[in-house]
Amino acid sequence: MEENNNVNVMPRIGEKAPEFVAETTQGKINFPKDYKGSWSILFSHPADFTPVCTSEFMTFASMEDKFEEANCKLVGLSVDGLYSHIAWLRTIKEKIEYKGMKDIEVKFPLIEDITMEVATKYGMMMPGESNTKAVRAVFFVDPKGIIRAIIYYPLSLGRNFDELYRALIAMQTADEFGIATPADWRPGDDVIVSPAGSCGAAKERMDDKELDCKDWFFCTKKLDKDKVLKAILKKK
Ligand code: BEZ
Repeated sequence: MEENNNVNVMPRIGEKAPEFVAETTQGKINFPKDYKGSWSILFSHPADFTPVCTSEFMTFASMEDKFEEANCKLVGLSVDGLYSHIAWLRTIKEKIEYKGMKDIEVKFPLIEDITMEVATKYGMMMPGESNTKAVRAVFFVDPKGIIRAIIYYPLSLGRNFDELYRALIAMQTADEFGIATPADWRPGDDVIVSPAGSCGAAKERMDDKELDCKDWFFCTKKLDKDKVLKAILKKK
């Protein structure tokens, strides 16, 4: 793998996800190549055997089928080694019960990154926060290997996994129906029709009975929840 020790380098939205080959709890992976054709969420956590990370892994693992149904695979990473990962995940399964979750098996791959090569490549190391631990970064990568969204949280803040799922479904809906999604959108809510490119087109939109235009730049339309879910979720 090409060395890049610059912690200031970060991939951006719209760019190809940086490539790497890594050892994981599920064997070697070649990212994003192995994930072509499906969405993936590559996320980092600061360290194994820590409480916030444990709560996050249990939550994410318990939602894995839901993400799978939305054609999205999960890939975790921390700068710990493989044996630490394996021991931690075994402890979670055997001993930790939290918020009704127990006997949780983490089936998605967890990358070992002792050299911090992958974490550095993805801008997961933030020295102002920690020199030795990755922050809680989340990269959404689409089926073509393009980074579509990035979310960062500090060490002390556990992520909201419902929001990660919501963001995934919203991006897939935007792609499928050529629309945008407003604040706090969920399937079944009205969607945003992107602003018209000319005055004539804007006027036409204002008169369009299918649209609800608050003004020339702000039009919404109905998008049926079942239509969204049918287009996005794999049939069980
Ligand atoms: C945690 O996961 O509990 C944690 C990890 C690193 C720093 C602070 C908290």
